[in-house]
Amino acid sequence: MIGSFIKKKKKEIVLDKENIPEHIAIIMDGNGRWARKRNLPRTMGHRAGVEAIRRVLKEADKIGIKYLTLYAFSTENWKRPKDEVSALMNLLVEYFKKELAELNKNGVVIRISGDITKLPKIAEEEIIKAVEITKNNKGIVLNLAFNYGGRDEILRAVKTIAEDYKNNKINLDEIDEDKFSNYLYTCNIPDPDLIIRPSGEQRISNFLLWQCAYSEFWYSDICWPDFNEEHLHMAIYDFQHRNRRYGGI
Ligand code: IPE
Ligand code: IPE
Ligand code: MG
Repeated sequence: MIGSFIKKKKKEIVLDKENIPEHIAIIMDGNGRWARKRNLPRTMGHRAGVEAIRRVLKEADKIGIKYLTLYAFSTENWKRPKDEVSALMNLLVEYFKKELAELNKNGVVIRISGDITKLPKIAEEEIIKAVEITKNNKGIVLNLAFNYGGRDEILRAVKTIAEDYKNNKINLDEIDEDKFSNYLYTCNIPDPDLIIRPSGEQRISNFLLWQCAYSEFWYSDICWPDFNEEHLHMAIYDFQHRNRRYGGI
């Protein structure tokens, strides 16, 4: 049959340039399963995950996303075997050592959400350096969530507010949603419009608990190391066909 020889043309995804999400946040999940399927050690999955970061950051920037938050290590991930934790710390250091110059050249602004004081010194130092060097850039903001937990973030905010109240720096009636947001790691970053979770899991896993109030969610069975430009386009395309009502009609 001639028909069977004609390659079916893939439906092209055309994004609406007027409705690009300002902030996309991604739970980069499935590295371990990706590796297991290939009989590789889990750390190889994390390494492949870094390649996906490169692809997705580049494409997000090209599309015109202003903020990209990537969940890389949660406050609960310390429960993992010591070897895996240290492999993840080493990968972070390696990423910045290798990529910082290029990121900076491309105008990327590095931000960190999470308590980096609990990381190995070398990782903390690389992060501080990356944030410092890129802070005046004008391009896409790459907000890396590392040793991040949504509950931890909220507790910290509450404690700092209590401190400020005690020191007469803030009045009770001043504390509204905007003010509270300023005490979070994501201060001055708008709430995510779209949260993406690959790997087939459909849960929030302590990610951006305050900020996700009106985020749209997009799930996919693909493991993070396989996530590519096309998946990002699919997620944004779906986002553009959602009806965000914020409680209205
Ligand atoms: C996500 O991949 C990376 C981190 C949480 C650091 P996982 O390591 O959770 O991969 P799975 O869920 O075991 O497949
Ligand atoms: C969430 O993934 C954390 C990151 C991707 C950094 P996990 O793999 O840790 O989440 P759970 O355990 O499946 O909820
Ligand atoms: Mg996981």
